Amino acid sequence: MKKLLGKNKILTAVFISGKGTNLKKLIQLSKTKKSPIKIGLIISSDSKAEGLKYSIKYKINKYVIKKNDKNSEIKILKKLEINKISFICLAGYMRILSKKFIKNFKGKIINIHPSLLPKYKGLNTHEKVIKNKEKYTGCTVHYVNDKLDSGKIILQKKIKVFKHDTADSIKKRVLEKEHQIYFKAILKIFNVI
Ligand code: GRF
Repeated sequence: MKKLLGKNKILTAVFISGKGTNLKKLIQLSKTKKSPIKIGLIISSDSKAEGLKYSIKYKINKYVIKKNDKNSEIKILKKLEINKISFICLAGYMRILSKKFIKNFKGKIINIHPSLLPKYKGLNTHEKVIKNKEKYTGCTVHYVNDKLDSGKIILQKKIKVFKHDTADSIKKRVLEKEHQIYFKAILKIFNVI
């Protein structure tokens, strides 16, 4: 991935659907000197996504794509091209990208997932962790391929599950770890650490 690194930072798009706490952290860390990336575009599948406020706060272009039809991804691809985006971070994006889209950005899309993959792909990971009485859980940053939450793992962080834990308390602690590892994974990809 080093070859993407030139004098300038790699223009990156972050795809969201909700709160955007990972987005916020990525924006803040991307402003540091050592960052290989610069967030150049925020894509949201929901016009009411809380995370869109960071587009205003940090003056970053945004694009809301409410519909999810054949043309949606074509429109997204156009926006990515206009904004010269060459790297994509999915951060709570609630849509599944098509094979075609992923092929277009092969090896250049990463995602953060709230479990220790390959365990608990998909939704409601924390509920499943509680139900199965897992001793540990955590989060994973991985490459996106055409199978859900199955791409090569870049970085993981583990936390302990306590007896008194609920899905909500785990969610809170895992999210803190997510904020720590997402940017670290990016540094790792671009050989900055
Ligand atoms: C995170 O838990 C992430 O792992 C999952 O969606 C959530 C997004 O949270 N894919 P936020 O919008 O970044 O706060």
